[in-house]
Amino acid sequence: MEPTPKINPEQHDILPLLAAQNRTLDWLNTDDGNPYSLPNTARRTYLNATSVVPLRYRTAVAQQPEIRQWINGLVGEAFAAQKKQPTPAAVVRSGPSLLILGSVGIGKTYQGYGALREMAITGAVAEWTVVTAADLYARLQPRFGVDSETEFERHAKAPVLFVDDLGAGGKLSEHTENVNFRLINYRYDHQLPTLITSNLLPKELGARMGDRVASRLVEMCHRINMTGDDKRRRAA
Ligand SMILES: Nc1ncnc2c1ncn2[C@@H]1O[C@H](COP(=O)(O)OP(=O)(O)OP(=O)(O)O)[C@@H](O)[C@H]1O
Ligand SMILES: [Mg+2]
Repeated sequence: MEPTPKINPEQHDILPLLAAQNRTLDWLNTDDGNPYSLPNTARRTYLNATSVVPLRYRTAVAQQPEIRQWINGLVGEAFAAQKKQPTPAAVVRSGPSLLILGSVGIGKTYQGYGALREMAITGAVAEWTVVTAADLYARLQPRFGVDSETEFERHAKAPVLFVDDLGAGGKLSEHTENVNFRLINYRYDHQLPTLITSNLLPKELGARMGDRVASRLVEMCHRINMTGDDKRRRAA
């Protein structure tokens, strides 16, 4: 495998992410010829991560301290697993999940993409799949010519999954309830790290998502309750 090209900080707003992880640009751009060195892995993982970050959140930086704790916990577990069973790179593949709750426009999605970007530059590999809950329900609608079970598994089995806006929208149909339960149950059973955002209040989780989903979320997730204003309206 070829070492990954250096990262231009002008093009990638990466300095705050490095500072949050006590790393420097010189470290990230270290050219040691070893494709599996930490900086090479970080550059590769970061460049892969940028491909799933939408334009609006391309410079997102997570500010919530609990997010940093979550990242560092998962990355620490990945390095510990690599020590026990040596592999070329440490890979984030199991551990706790994170639930970010808060009202419209408060910055939940922004914090989520900030987490994704920061995890990318730690030197552990994190292979993210990103989806909004509404898009997932639409993709999984049974229809001719589409193998929705394969699509379900692509999300359920993703090493790290970002589900944005869980519980949003109108009344849940049998289909969306079924998707919610199967997805959360799979991630719960296999202890797969999942970052979830939702507009629901903590006390609304059970009523909206069903007790069985809410119970699993409570056990599997660290929870952040964001408070504040709608940043979209403030900007306007
Ligand atoms: N800490 C921040 N610094 C700068 N811009 C921010 C920050 N947090 C959020 N924003 C911006 O504010 C807007 C709303 O943020 P975001 O989309 O994350 O809100 P949200 O809580 O996910 O809203 P919704 O519930 O409607 O999905 C976006 O344009 C986002 O880029
Ligand atoms: Mg959002």
